[in-house]
Amino acid sequence: MDILFNNNRPFIEGVSVDEITKSFSTPLYIYSQKEIEKAYNNLKENLGVEIFYAVKANSNLAILKLLNNCGAGSDTVSAGEIQRSIKAGFNPNKIIYEGVGKSKEDIEYAIINNIRLINAESLNELILINKIAKNLNKTVSIGVRLNPDIDSLTLSKISTGKKTDKFGIPINELNNIISAMDSLNNIKLKGLSCHVGSQISEMIIFEKVFNTMKEAASLSISKGINIEYVDLGGGFAVNYNKNINDLNVKEIGRLTSSIFKDIPYKISFEPGRYLVAKAGIIITKILNIKKNGGINFIITDAGMHTLIRPAMYNSVHHIDALDQSSNKKINYTIAGPICESSDILAKDIVLSEQKENNFLFIHDTGAYGAAMASNYNSRGLPNELLINEDKYSIIHAEEKTSDIIARDLIPDWL
Ligand SMILES: Cc1ncc(COP(=O)(O)O)c(C=O)c1O
Repeated sequence: MDILFNNNRPFIEGVSVDEITKSFSTPLYIYSQKEIEKAYNNLKENLGVEIFYAVKANSNLAILKLLNNCGAGSDTVSAGEIQRSIKAGFNPNKIIYEGVGKSKEDIEYAIINNIRLINAESLNELILINKIAKNLNKTVSIGVRLNPDIDSLTLSKISTGKKTDKFGIPINELNNIISAMDSLNNIKLKGLSCHVGSQISEMIIFEKVFNTMKEAASLSISKGINIEYVDLGGGFAVNYNKNINDLNVKEIGRLTSSIFKDIPYKISFEPGRYLVAKAGIIITKILNIKKNGGINFIITDAGMHTLIRPAMYNSVHHIDALDQSSNKKINYTIAGPICESSDILAKDIVLSEQKENNFLFIHDTGAYGAAMASNYNSRGLPNELLINEDKYSIIHAEEKTSDIIARDLIPDWL
């Protein structure tokens, strides 16, 4: 998101960052409504097909409501995410549900709420869904998530479409699945889906996925299955560190319309990161500055409990300082307060000389940030704010340490 400067003071949309840092404790997540709307509209214009927002990227109710208002559907991976989507106002017919581990209760919840499709990830799961549907006296619309064995050339921790990954049904088993449908009378196969990974930047990967899914749909149709929906996944790359470009979504649009011509089914995508990553920023306060082993450490109040991506995936987030008044430039390593050596937010970044109580911005934290935050080291989850022009509102209230501790129970024998 852009930090704008007016009389040398920073603003997000029309809201003064100075006012925010005075009013709220840090660390603090801030989202720009305009950025989310811009990302959604850009995708919609260039792809021209249905977009299901991958709720896992940021499942805050206000963010869901905003994307629902924009016209998105909801792509969920748990009963909790279905519940959030319904609460945020999504029409159940615009909710799809996948996920590699669904309990009986999760499946029942999805069926009872009449969502559009449950995407099964194994034959066992199809049999289970059929059994539950029969008990509920219902016929349920089903998709199958295929594992196309395509290497998305992304980090191994965010790859999901190789045959050795745990996700989906191997594509060469599609024939068996289709045959099995004959005896599964309470489910109706209507959709195919896949998602081969996150942060995919190579067009050739999308081309392989699209061609493979088209073939799978043609095979299913030739076997008498009435395919209505083909979902092509998410994974659109976002440029975090300024070294790679955001994915060219115009190019994706051109590719889909040239591959999926004259088809009897609807295609869709399920991106998460692309829609929200750039709309988020963390403001963190400098707690301490120290030199260890020749390294200038800035210790901040945000850490891996606030944003786990650098520790978990070695991901790079651009960090800069609110106060850049010093002409002295220093090479810093930014570390969180958590008692783990891996709690490093950025290494070797050059900033104007900083002092305690200054604020830093951690950029592009709208996706997989707050959604993956934790209470590690008994730290409460932070406030999250949504800014819309000159208005702002808390969309997730911070947790107090006492809230966290209150959930522990001491048995009466102790
Ligand atoms: C099944 C599924 N769909 C969609 C997504 C969204 O991916 P991204 O946020 O990279 O677009 C994910 C994320 O891993 C996923 O697992």
